[in-house]
Amino acid sequence: VRRIYLDNAATSFPKPPGVWEAVKDYGERLGATPGRAGYAESLEGGRVIRRCRERLVRLVNAPSPDHAVFTLNTTDALNLAVKGRVSNARRRDPARPLHLVTTAFDHNSVLRPFNELASCGVRVTFVDGDPASGRVDPAAIRHAITPQTILVALNHVSNVTGVIQDAAAVGRVCRDVGVAYLLDAAQSAGHTPVDMRAWSVDLLALPGHKGLLGPLGTGALVMRPGMEERIDTLREGGTGTASESDTQPGFMPDKYEPGSHNAPGIAGLAEALRFILDRTPAALRRHEESLIARMLDGLRRGGAAVGAAGPDRSGPLAGLSLLGPDRVEDRTGIFSLTHATLSPAELALTLETEFGVLARPGVHCAPRAHRALGTSTGALRLSLGPFISADDVRHTLDALAAVCRSARAHSLAAIAPTSSAMLTQP
Ligand SMILES: Cc1ncc(COP(=O)(O)O)c(C=O)c1O
Repeated sequence: VRRIYLDNAATSFPKPPGVWEAVKDYGERLGATPGRAGYAESLEGGRVIRRCRERLVRLVNAPSPDHAVFTLNTTDALNLAVKGRVSNARRRDPARPLHLVTTAFDHNSVLRPFNELASCGVRVTFVDGDPASGRVDPAAIRHAITPQTILVALNHVSNVTGVIQDAAAVGRVCRDVGVAYLLDAAQSAGHTPVDMRAWSVDLLALPGHKGLLGPLGTGALVMRPGMEERIDTLREGGTGTASESDTQPGFMPDKYEPGSHNAPGIAGLAEALRFILDRTPAALRRHEESLIARMLDGLRRGGAAVGAAGPDRSGPLAGLSLLGPDRVEDRTGIFSLTHATLSPAELALTLETEFGVLARPGVHCAPRAHRALGTSTGALRLSLGPFISADDVRHTLDALAAVCRSARAHSLAAIAPTSSAMLTQP
């Protein structure tokens, strides 16, 4: 039975050729903790890790591989950036009131650390976005910044609406006022270009396992050199370097990487990055754009509500509404849908059991975004990856049409007895 995996926003599947071979090779041939001993396997392991850092910084145009810090996932990178920044500012001036800014369209990986810090006296602001697209106006972010603000965190691409925020404009705002700028690239890296230098990004949180196509359990925080003076560590421990010292080394990347690395996972990520760099991010984006265009076109033609266009009551997709932008250039391949009568969970179940289409219903760890969009009970999210084909999109649209038709038939059947009963009344 055909299975079409459309949950790439959660984690990408399948991975490019060579990724699992690289993981296996590390485990079976090298095995050692990377770079921490003098024997050949350990030294080669160190080179594998180094190659991964170099490919990461090449991909996002960052200046220094030593400042690409490996983390467990994006959440871990975001926690390090946000809490490390607050800890550092508190240490420098315990009396200074502190303020953080993010948006209502950010993920729980930012909202929850912010709310945790709010419970410890830090003031936080969640800037609203456009209720239809989720787009946030950089001027509104500028407006939210005060002399107490020490960090602005922005979700580059919404995991709910797929909207691409103007990361460059927010970078200019932060640079002009001298506030640290943290970009959450969980949904953008590998899908649309990310440019740390051009956009003045100070801290970039990355998942290794989503658009970068590496294994689960990988992620990174890429820092602009110098940021290590403004971000405290959240964990200390053995680094295999400066071992005679009782305290954490201050040099990069060891400062933020105590403990043994997920070396097999990082070996897999290095291979995935090679695939992306060889294909080129621009070519991957072109492929995704062609699929987005097909999806938008298919939804529109089928009578779904897309953008400003109201729902068509007669088309095969009548009853469906797409959240977020209606232009290819404004979005990535994340499509969140609601239905007039079916819940997101019902839609997901039928799509999987009858058509082999795997999608994610729910609130997608973004409760504020859903409240702002008027969909607090959630939506059904379909998210594309580089191995999805035009034929997969067609199959998905056909499956959606069949589900909508059957929902209409059911609701007509439910109305029919009532109407006939009314007709027979005296
Ligand atoms: C926008 C955004 N930020 C952060 C995360 C957290 O990513 P991870 O699972 O790598 O911790 C996600 C995951 O869905 C996300 O969509």
